[in-house]
Amino acid sequence: MQGLQAQSHNGAARTVIVGGSTGIGAALAVAFARRGNAVAILARREDALLATASAVRNAVPNALVTIVVHDVAARDRVDAAWDACERALGGPIDRLVYCAGTMPKVALDEFDTTKDAAMIETNFLGAIAWCNRAARSFLASKSGQIVGISSVAADRGRIKAPGYAASKAGFVTYLESLRNRLTRHGVSVVTVKPGFVDTDMLKGVEGTFGVMSPDACAHAIVRACERRRQVVYVPWWWRFVMLGIRATPSFIFRRLNV
Ligand SMILES: NC(=O)c1ccc[n+]([C@@H]2O[C@H](COP(=O)([O-])OP(=O)(O)OC[C@H]3O[C@@H](n4cnc5c(N)ncnc54)[C@H](OP(=O)(O)O)[C@@H]3O)[C@@H](O)[C@H]2O)c1
Repeated sequence: MQGLQAQSHNGAARTVIVGGSTGIGAALAVAFARRGNAVAILARREDALLATASAVRNAVPNALVTIVVHDVAARDRVDAAWDACERALGGPIDRLVYCAGTMPKVALDEFDTTKDAAMIETNFLGAIAWCNRAARSFLASKSGQIVGISSVAADRGRIKAPGYAASKAGFVTYLESLRNRLTRHGVSVVTVKPGFVDTDMLKGVEGTFGVMSPDACAHAIVRACERRRQVVYVPWWWRFVMLGIRATPSFIFRRLNV
């Protein structure tokens, strides 16, 4: 596959977006459909998936879009969901975007293993299950693209949301290993690290700046996929913000309220 120019057997690239009911995933569904992709969107809420499918059809009237209700915690259902996407889209999947994620509010004096485990389950274990499924198919076809939506939060352990940061850092490392395994077989692996994006997840989060719209974020991600980028910050300037944050010595960083 050559980025968005990829063509499946009936002429359209087939893109699966896990976590496509709202926010960045929903915007990606529209953005990939605009680029001629047939799109399958998966998440738990059927009403939100149907609304996103309507938005795709409104934007691209002849788009092929399908929904699959799926909870990423049900890792034994990944194969069945993958097959359902292929049946609905009419052939092999060309691109997986793993976008599902949760970030519940965690107080600074809260150390709640149940909450952390739920984040690891959705943000990391579900991601592994889906990326592994894609990797098996793409390795066999020596083509395809895996796109993982991580976060700038992966770059440094901050006092806020340790479980979230750890889940996203784990995903980044997993994607790097997949890239090192699969690039030589013609498979592209794109790691995306968004900054602040105006979605349900950001509601109630304090101290945000440079907030981006989901559509602008999706546009940047689609361009990164087209270019077969390896690791991309969205917007681009977060690369330099995080360079500074990573370079801050620990004795200073642990005194900061970030
Ligand atoms: N917004 C930001 O500032 C920001 C910044 C950096 C990274 N990100 C990442 O971007 C991704 C998308 O988040 P968003 O900002 O677009 O927030 P969002 O609107 O809350 O989207 C989260 C998506 O994940 C899905 N999801 C959550 N739990 C799931 C589960 N158990 N099974 C299946 N799907 C599940 C949700 O669908 P259902 O609830 O319908 O299942 C929804 O489609 C996340 O991975 C997030 O960590 C966001």
